[in-house]
Amino acid sequence: MVTFRRFRPDDLNRISMCNMDPLTETYDSSFYLQYYAKWPGMFIVAEDDSGNIVGYVMGKLESSPAYFKQSPHYLPWHAHITALTVAPAYRRSGIGGVLTKRLEEEGDVGDAWFMDLFVRKSNTRAINFYKKSGYSVYRVVKNYYGDDVNDPTADGEDAYDMRKSMKRDTKGQHVRENGEKHAKMRTKRTSLEDPNALHNVKKQSRRNTPDVIMLRRLPGWRMLKNWINAEGDIQSTHDTGTTWYLLED
Ligand SMILES: CC(C)(COP(=O)(O)OP(=O)(O)OC[C@H]1O[C@@H](n2cnc3c(N)ncnc32)[C@H](O)[C@@H]1OP(=O)(O)O)[C@@H](O)C(=O)NCCC(=O)NCCS
Repeated sequence: MVTFRRFRPDDLNRISMCNMDPLTETYDSSFYLQYYAKWPGMFIVAEDDSGNIVGYVMGKLESSPAYFKQSPHYLPWHAHITALTVAPAYRRSGIGGVLTKRLEEEGDVGDAWFMDLFVRKSNTRAINFYKKSGYSVYRVVKNYYGDDVNDPTADGEDAYDMRKSMKRDTKGQHVRENGEKHAKMRTKRTSLEDPNALHNVKKQSRRNTPDVIMLRRLPGWRMLKNWINAEGDIQSTHDTGTTWYLLED
């Protein structure tokens, strides 16, 4: 029999039945523990009679930072599936469905507009599962994954960004049809350490005309220091010689 409960830190020693799967990402322990500490109700495991973890879902509640509001890609308050996996021998018995449903309940408790997730475009099994569970493609994120599990020679792989409205989204404003036709580039991060950085930023932004360009300073990634609009005009500058990053959304 399989039972469902919240994740506990010692479960990390018992997730290998799930994580041997190539489509299941394996992270540093600190990453799992961060979810356990911040969103304990959104980290749910399925355990078999022998104490093996045979499935788990790990999620969170979040929104884009406030300074991102001008971006067309701004994400309002929502829940996110960071990882969902069921051990191969336990698949097609409804475990993935139960885990997802539990997470959605937490999303509703947290007043999320929608649940979202990223899935490899080639992962048809998971895409079918999510579609069956009421999710639809919202957009394609080009080269979201740095590798391609089916082709080691490929540079990367696109992701489907899939969504499902939560109860709060009564009008379905946060989902759309034909999401496969909407593409978004992966956020690009360029380090600007040379003295001509601001000049380079101007040139780069003119060439690429991205939606939003931001400069942020290490450490912290917390505060927006400078804005550069799509035409490449710097709104304000406070560069003191520290490392700056150019983020293109
Ligand atoms: C995707 C995954 C979590 C599904 O878990 P699961 O426990 O097998 O799913 P369920 O048994 O709850 O399936 C529910 C429904 O989804 C659909 N589905 C699930 N697996 C499917 C498959 N291989 N092919 C087609 N449809 C599938 C079916 O409609 C199924 O209902 P049914 O069995 O009554 O026909 C599991 O296959 C998995 O762990 N895959 C590897 C990791 C992964 O890809 N995770 C997602 C990354 S974003």
